[in-house]
Amino acid sequence: MFPGPLGHSLAGRALREGRWALDAIDIRGFATDRHRSVDDTPCGGGAGMVLRPDVVDAACAATLASGPGRPLVALTPRGVPLDQAMVRGFAEGPGVVLLCGRFEGIDQRVIEARGMLEVSIGDYVLSGGEPAALVLLDACVRLLPGVMGAAVSGEEESFSSGLLEYPHYTRPTNWNGLAVPPVLLSGNHAEVARWRREQAEMLTRTRRPDLWARHGSDNPIALDGQASAA
Ligand code: ADE
Repeated sequence: MFPGPLGHSLAGRALREGRWALDAIDIRGFATDRHRSVDDTPCGGGAGMVLRPDVVDAACAATLASGPGRPLVALTPRGVPLDQAMVRGFAEGPGVVLLCGRFEGIDQRVIEARGMLEVSIGDYVLSGGEPAALVLLDACVRLLPGVMGAAVSGEEESFSSGLLEYPHYTRPTNWNGLAVPPVLLSGNHAEVARWRREQAEMLTRTRRPDLWARHGSDNPIALDGQASAA
C-alpha cells in the first residue's frame, strides 16, 4: 500500500528528491513462531484478533534503532482526532513511526509500554490503518519545505485561524447565469478580506459548530456582534 498515492504528484516528486522518505516494514518479519503469527485471539473472548505485544515491540525497537526520538503513532478509530496542529507538530519533528492495525486491535500493554499515541482520522471504521497512515503522511508531507511552494503557508494560516475556508471563484465571471460575487471583482482588498472572513465564519458556524465554539471562545466578539458562547 506504500507509498501508494504518495508516490505521485507533488508528494511523489518530493519523495524522489529525498525531501522525505518512507520505510514500510512488515511486522510479520518480527514474528518468532514457525507460523510467523503476529496476532492471537482476544483474552476474555470476542470477535477479531489482537496484535501480539512481543511482535509489535520488536518491530518498534528495530524501527526506532534506525531513527530514534520519533513518536510512535498507532492508527485506530478510537484514537484522538488528527488535526492540523498535530500534523504541524509531526511535520516539524524528526519523523514519525506509524503502526497500522488490520481488522484487529493492538495489545494494550505494548501501547502503554511504548508510549504510543493513538490517532484517528475520523469517526468511521476503515478495514485497516494503512489508508489512515497515508492520510496522515500526506498532510505532513505537504508542509515540508520545498514540497508545495509558497501556496501552503497562507492557506495553513487560514486553517490555523480555526475557521473553514471561504468559497473560491474564477472566470468566467458569469457562468450559466451565475455571477461571481461582485465584491471579488471590486479591487477593494479590504472589502474582499472582510467578505471572505464573513463567509468563513458563516460556514464554520453552520457546518462545524464544534470548531465555531472553540473559535468563539478565543474570539469573544462574533460576526453578529454578540458575545459568543465559549
Ligand atoms: N483504522 C481503522 N479505522 C481508522 C480510523 N478511522 N482512523 C485511524 N485508523 C483507523
